[in-house]
Amino acid sequence: MLVDVHEGLAVLSRGDLLAIPTETVYGLAADAAQPEAIVRVFRTKGRPADHPLILHLGDAAWAEHFGHVPDHAWPLLRRFWPGPLTVVVPRRQTVSLLVTGGQETVALRVPRHPLTLNLLQAFGRPLVAPSANRFGRTSPTSAEHVRSEFGEKVAILDGGACPVGLESTIVDFSGERPRLLRPGQVSRADLEQLLGPLQDDLREAPRAPGMLEQHYAPVTRTRLGSSGEGRFAWLGLQARSGAAVQLLLPADAEAYGRGLYAALRELDASGCDSIVVQPPPQEPQWEAVWDRLRRATAP
Ligand code: TXA
Ligand code: MG
Repeated sequence: MLVDVHEGLAVLSRGDLLAIPTETVYGLAADAAQPEAIVRVFRTKGRPADHPLILHLGDAAWAEHFGHVPDHAWPLLRRFWPGPLTVVVPRRQTVSLLVTGGQETVALRVPRHPLTLNLLQAFGRPLVAPSANRFGRTSPTSAEHVRSEFGEKVAILDGGACPVGLESTIVDFSGERPRLLRPGQVSRADLEQLLGPLQDDLREAPRAPGMLEQHYAPVTRTRLGSSGEGRFAWLGLQARSGAAVQLLLPADAEAYGRGLYAALRELDASGCDSIVVQPPPQEPQWEAVWDRLRRATAP
């Protein structure tokens, strides 16, 4: 069911779920102040309860009320909020452990999509919103994708196709040095320019399900390669003869990222025996794309 911002506010107020557009991917939003609503998010996604949710804020000025934001994080937040950046900081007591999966840190983000920013500001308090897909599957980048995940069970605020198309960059500020937990459109170079060198050792990083292998995965067996056997679907930068179905994506990392999830969904639905993805360039600006491709093709 499609709703407008006004109806969306009513859905959230009564503790129901609302799929919201963000510049990255669609989120499955709920009122962070209602424990039953948070539990409904986990249940609807099929997500384990110890996997923390991002708290979405209507303004950077809300951040200090929910987390302890270190001074050295602010240049980054001023530059990229609203936008595709999430920061992990020590939580304040105002944030329920249901949101953080029992952890003492909380993930905060101010999304940039105008409809969702209006919604958040009118709502006046944070929304939890994981990507609006079933646990482990590809994130939705259109209202149609959300409908194919949850049917009519979930109300949708349709904001069109997501302009970034890959989930937000996550930076952890809870340790000694900032750590990149999930690459995204805000790049490693952007981060290092404002923060200096990042801590690269992820061994002690907080649990993040986005860091599990085989996340963001199609149902059809998917692998990287330069050709396939049998009835294979091809996702490439160049055409491949012999493919039963093929989709080509632009050789520009941002444009590729924008189209990646829709392309994987379409090929997944094509009925082929496998999906073969042509490896894109091994260059820094492709880091976020490579991260998602590695997970989508993990055995
Ligand atoms: O672009 C996005 O971030 C989208 C849109 C909807 O905002 N949201 C999203 O949410 O991707 P989700 O739940 O699919 O992924 C959130 C990631 C997970 O990998 C989770 O583990 C990590 O954020 N995360 C959340 N809270 C955390 C915390 N306290 N410490 C470490 N990682 C955390
Ligand atoms: Mg997700």
